[in-house]
Amino acid sequence: MRAMKAIKRFVSVGVCTAMIFGLAGCSSNGGTAFTGGKRIIRISHAQSETHPEHIGLLAFKEYIEENLGDKYEVEIYPNELLGAAQKAIELTQTGAIDFVVAGTANLETFADVYEVFSMPYLFTSEEAYHATMEDTDYMEQIYASTDDAGFRVLTWYNAGTRNVYATTPIETPDDLRGLKIRVQQSPASVSMIEAFGAAASPMSFGEVYTAIQQGVIDGAENNELALTNNKHGEVAKYYTYIMHQMVPDMLIGNLKFLNSLSDEEFEVFQEAARISTEVEMEEWDAQVEEAKEIAQNDMGVEFIDVDINTFKEKVEPLHEEMLEENEDIGDLYDHIQEINAQYAEEGGEQ
Ligand code: GCU
Repeated sequence: MRAMKAIKRFVSVGVCTAMIFGLAGCSSNGGTAFTGGKRIIRISHAQSETHPEHIGLLAFKEYIEENLGDKYEVEIYPNELLGAAQKAIELTQTGAIDFVVAGTANLETFADVYEVFSMPYLFTSEEAYHATMEDTDYMEQIYASTDDAGFRVLTWYNAGTRNVYATTPIETPDDLRGLKIRVQQSPASVSMIEAFGAAASPMSFGEVYTAIQQGVIDGAENNELALTNNKHGEVAKYYTYIMHQMVPDMLIGNLKFLNSLSDEEFEVFQEAARISTEVEMEEWDAQVEEAKEIAQNDMGVEFIDVDINTFKEKVEPLHEEMLEENEDIGDLYDHIQEINAQYAEEGGEQ
C-alpha cells in the first residue's frame, strides 16, 4: 500500500519534472536531467523567493557554478513548486530531485533522532541553539542518520524561534484551550500542542493560510516570517511570544548523488553549503526585525509578551515521556543539556 503510494508519487513527479524540462528544452534521463551537456541540480524548498533560505540557496548555486560551472547547473524551485516538504523529501530520497530544504519535524519519520528538536523548550537560549548547530563535528553523525533512507543533511539554516498565533489573543495557557492549532506533520508536534491544551491539526505549510481564513483552524505556531512571507498575518492578528521551540531547517541531499561526486567536487558542495548557511543567517536576523515591523504596522498584528514559565510548565513532562519512548534521542538530548548549562553559566538562563 505504502509502496504503491510512493510509486504513484514518483510517477506524478516524473511527469511534472519532464514538463518543466520539456519547456526548458532539456533532456531527462530517469531522475537525472541535463542541459547543454551539464548536469542539472534541482533544489526544492517551501519558502518564497525573498526568504533568507532562498537567498542562502542562491549563494549555494553561485559557488557551485563558479567552481564547477562546466559540469553543473543549479536550479532552485521555491514555494513548494515541486511539492510540500514530505513529498519533496521523498523526491530527494528517490533521486527525482537532488536537494530539498525541510524542517527537522519532517525528518522524524525517516530517523527517530530528529524528534529531539520538536521537544518544547529544548534549548534554554538562542546561544545554546546556535552553538549546538554550529558544532559540525558532532552534528555530522546526526546528519548521517538518514543514510539508510537514501539522503543526508549537508547543512542547517536558522528558522528562528517558534511562537503561537491565532485569530484570538493568547495570553495564558488557558486561552489555548479548545483552539485548533496547526502543527507540522510530526507526532512530537501533535503531543506538544495537546500538552498545551489545544487541539492539534497537522497539515503542510502551504495549506495554513486558507485553513485559518476559512476557520478550519484558529491559528498555528511558527516564526515571525510566516506572518509576512506567507501572509499569515493577514488572517491571524495575535502573535504570542511563548517561545516553545527553536527548530532548524536542513539542506538535504540525495545520497547516491553525493556519493557520485569526486572528493574535490564534494568539497565544493560542502563549502557551498557552509557559505549558504552564513548568508542565510545574516539575512535571517535582518528579515525577522523587518517582518515584525511590517506585521505590526502594515498588517495590524498585535505582538503579545507573556510569562513563558506558565506555558513551559504545561509541556515540561514531555521531556521525560519522549526520552522514555525514543531511546535514539538520549545522546543528543544530553549533549544539548551540556551546552544549555554552559551558556546558562555564561549569560544567565533565559
Ligand atoms: C518554517 C520552517 C519550515 C517549516 C514551516 C512549517 O517556515 O522554516 O521548515 O516547514 O515553518 O511550519 O511547516
